[in-house]
Amino acid sequence: MQFTKLSELFFLLPFLASAAAPPVHPLTGRPIAGVMGAAGAHWLERSERDAEEQPRLAVRLLDLKPGMKVADVGAGSGYYTELLSRAVGPSGAVFATDIQPAMLRILDERIRTKSLGNVQTVLSTESDPRLPNNSLDLILLVDVYHEFSQPQAMLRGLRAALKPSGRLVLLEFRKEDPQVPIRPEHKMSVADVRTELEAEGLRFQQVLNGLPWQHILVFLK
Ligand SMILES: C[S@@+](CC[C@H](N)C(=O)[O-])C[C@H]1O[C@@H](n2cnc3c(N)ncnc32)[C@H](O)[C@@H]1O
Repeated sequence: MQFTKLSELFFLLPFLASAAAPPVHPLTGRPIAGVMGAAGAHWLERSERDAEEQPRLAVRLLDLKPGMKVADVGAGSGYYTELLSRAVGPSGAVFATDIQPAMLRILDERIRTKSLGNVQTVLSTESDPRLPNNSLDLILLVDVYHEFSQPQAMLRGLRAALKPSGRLVLLEFRKEDPQVPIRPEHKMSVADVRTELEAEGLRFQQVLNGLPWQHILVFLK
């Protein structure tokens, strides 16, 4: 691109800057993180993950019961899907969603090799979780919410999918804790989560502590 006059360059500078800046949440100004590609699945399956995140403890804290209908939104390779599947048992159901067909292929392979007969995968979109309305006891988002490119539309869809007594649960790396070794845009503070979710009509219930690096934020419909 050539600029014939210096004034043309100054005119265009704000537009060029906004094209390069990451999108932010309109209420909190939080920079929205990029989506982890399917090449990142090896990180999701890293051997240290059990020690760093204690996912079995996390799922125990959710107090799931056999027969419940739940969703693992942004399920990735299905690390948590498998734990949810076992927690709700054969009489329950798990919808495992992702926007990336390549992630769902990895997840389908996990479902096949581990015989997770109660899991159904869903290819969703950046603005629509594609879940059945008024039907879920719990929706879990592990390390996902901060990647939503359209968080407000997604929250409206997720809220609609919950039963009246349903819970929406976010597991996010603690932004308040500088010792948690994760890039800032991939962490969330309790204050930002509350501001963004309460604005979409979700009622804050509690923060569950006890995990090494993450907080568990529980909201009601
Ligand atoms: C960091 S990975 C976490 C995967 C999984 N929850 C876990 O903890 O193992 C984030 C995942 O969220 C997915 N994702 C991002 N935006 C999404 C959206 N709007 N709806 C559903 N999935 C989304 C990405 O494709 C990616 O697989």
